[in-house]
Amino acid sequence: MSLLIREVPVEDTPLDLLLLADPSEEKVRSYLARSRCFVAADDGIVAGACAVQPLEAGGHELMCIAVHPDRQKSGIGTALLKWVIDFYRKSGAGRLEVGTGTFGYQLAFYQRQGFRVTAIDRNFFIQYYPEPIFEDGIQLFDMLRLTLDFSGKSR
Ligand SMILES: CC(C)(COP(=O)(O)OP(=O)(O)OC[C@H]1O[C@@H](n2cnc3c(N)ncnc32)[C@H](O)[C@@H]1OP(=O)(O)O)[C@@H](O)C(=O)NCCC(=O)NCCS
Repeated sequence: MSLLIREVPVEDTPLDLLLLADPSEEKVRSYLARSRCFVAADDGIVAGACAVQPLEAGGHELMCIAVHPDRQKSGIGTALLKWVIDFYRKSGAGRLEVGTGTFGYQLAFYQRQGFRVTAIDRNFFIQYYPEPIFEDGIQLFDMLRLTLDFSGKSR
């Protein structure tokens, strides 16, 4: 595997990949407009993508991250997440946040990189999404908010 991770113009973001992480095209398009996008390409073929948008007070939020289903579980998502963390840490960001509705393997995926639980946004997915969302047959209701604090203050 020869993985190259780089930023791409928002208009070049592979929307089909991002929709694996966030099923609402309307929502993805709305936050893409103010996001930076990063892709991971293996031998020139884009296999993973993510979008990050700025928050107030030096924070940034990883809005979505996804790897093509045929390429999952081969380390591409972890490599992309690590690269993005490193990119924002070096750029002087205060923290990186992420929200997830699935508390399965995705939770460990973030926790392994140092993300800590900071809040639970109850009923987020029924309040802000027009259609019910199911993952592995489980309806998503609440969003778990995780933060990676670059200052180390959360300890
Ligand atoms: C989450 C995601 C980006 C991780 O990318 P990836 O390339 O598959 O991740 P990695 O190969 O680096 O693996 C990270 C860990 O997740 C596990 N994992 C990845 N996909 C999995 C799956 N479908 N089921 C169970 N575990 C999975 C891996 O086994 C690995 O754990 P391990 O080290 O204990 O083996 C990717 O699985 C994905 O696109 N999922 C669908 C979209 C999504 O849920 N995005 C996140 C929204 S919160």
